[in-house]
Amino acid sequence: MFDDDDLRCFSMLIEAPRNAEILGSVKIYDVQKVLKLESSELETPLLRCITNEEIEEVLERLVVIIPVKNEKINLLDGVLRAIPQKCKIIVVSNSSRMKQDLFKMEEDVVRRFYRVTKHPIMLIHQKDPGMAISYKEVGFSSILDGDGLVRDGKAEGMVTGLLIAKYLKKDFVGFIDADNYFPGAVNEYVRDYAAGLCMSKSPYAMIRLHWKHKPKIVKRKLYFKKWGRVSEITNRYLNLLLANQTGFETDIIKTGNAGEHAMTMKLASIMNFSTGYSIEPYQLIYLLEEFGRGETEYAEAANAGIEVFQIETLNPHLHEEKGEKHVKGMMMDSLSTIFHSRLTNKYLKTRIIEELKSNKVVESDKEIKKNLIIPSIKDIDGKKFMKKLEESSDTFVNFLWNGN
Ligand code: GDD
Repeated sequence: MFDDDDLRCFSMLIEAPRNAEILGSVKIYDVQKVLKLESSELETPLLRCITNEEIEEVLERLVVIIPVKNEKINLLDGVLRAIPQKCKIIVVSNSSRMKQDLFKMEEDVVRRFYRVTKHPIMLIHQKDPGMAISYKEVGFSSILDGDGLVRDGKAEGMVTGLLIAKYLKKDFVGFIDADNYFPGAVNEYVRDYAAGLCMSKSPYAMIRLHWKHKPKIVKRKLYFKKWGRVSEITNRYLNLLLANQTGFETDIIKTGNAGEHAMTMKLASIMNFSTGYSIEPYQLIYLLEEFGRGETEYAEAANAGIEVFQIETLNPHLHEEKGEKHVKGMMMDSLSTIFHSRLTNKYLKTRIIEELKSNKVVESDKEIKKNLIIPSIKDIDGKKFMKKLEESSDTFVNFLWNGN
């Protein structure tokens, strides 16, 4: 039906951004919808066509980091199988090793996955004493807890993955949660990252995904919700903060809590990371604080400009529901990161306190504690870290570079 030339022309069809907010060197584009995962080429001013060839080129330079803690093993298995073959995978686990050794199950899944698919992958446990030794070796002890091991947390797992990606000299890094029920959606997310990275003109770019829908069971029926409870609130306050700075009301930010996101390594290497559930909102706060006012130490990045793309996926997002406590924790950490930003004025602080009180998350502003910040990995020697990790780790499963 198609000859080779036709196949080369297949592309992802995505809306061109209609609008963007700019603050200093930071440009945040409006949401761009994925219109078709594979289409023939149709270039118009309102559409972007990213060819399969362009996407494949980016995938080769992209490493996917999967943080995992105590997820159903079938979910992790499905997520792994969905990652495009060209992307190397780094799994950083903090799963239980106590009564039931979940990490052992993950190790079995990773080994089987590699045996069958030959997909380059590595796995390591966050609490491996060898990892703490390696962090000490490179002078990054701020990631360690009171027991001298790496702290619990998704951010700590993400930063560990970043350091390994730095060693691998990859250009792009994408994060994918391990609790996704639909492998097909995961495959799209990684391709959406690549499409966003293809659209960026700056080497300092970030791609944040916005779900088309998040299905829920409501009165025994499937209901396709557009907004998560926390994301709606986080976005509102991030937009207010941005509006305070520009003097123009805006609703541009729609991905305040985007767990699924990707970045150029150049950007990921200079960014600080926040912890708990504040990882994603803090990324925007960090960029606005660092690059929004012309006071940055990163002149190269400021001159190149920081581009933030927000892409609406075609697939809905179905992940593990973790309950009310989780939702409150997410609201607390997200709003606290905005509350404590130096860009936040008194009016915004008052509104945040009211929001947290009305949602019964806090009773007084004294409870709004600052989230812990992990400094950037810019000065860390990735090679030294990996050398020590290989020598001292006892959980490292490496099918990335020596094919064992
Ligand atoms: N390595 C590691 N270490 N991974 C962890 C840890 C940890 O201590 N804690 C959680 N994870 C993994 C989970 O297994 C999952 O793959 C991913 O991190 C996110 O899980 P949760 O932290 O439980 O978050 P969530 O699923 O409720 O929320 C997700 O979506 C939010 C937006 O809706 C996350 O991506 C959030 O970061 C995001 O804000």
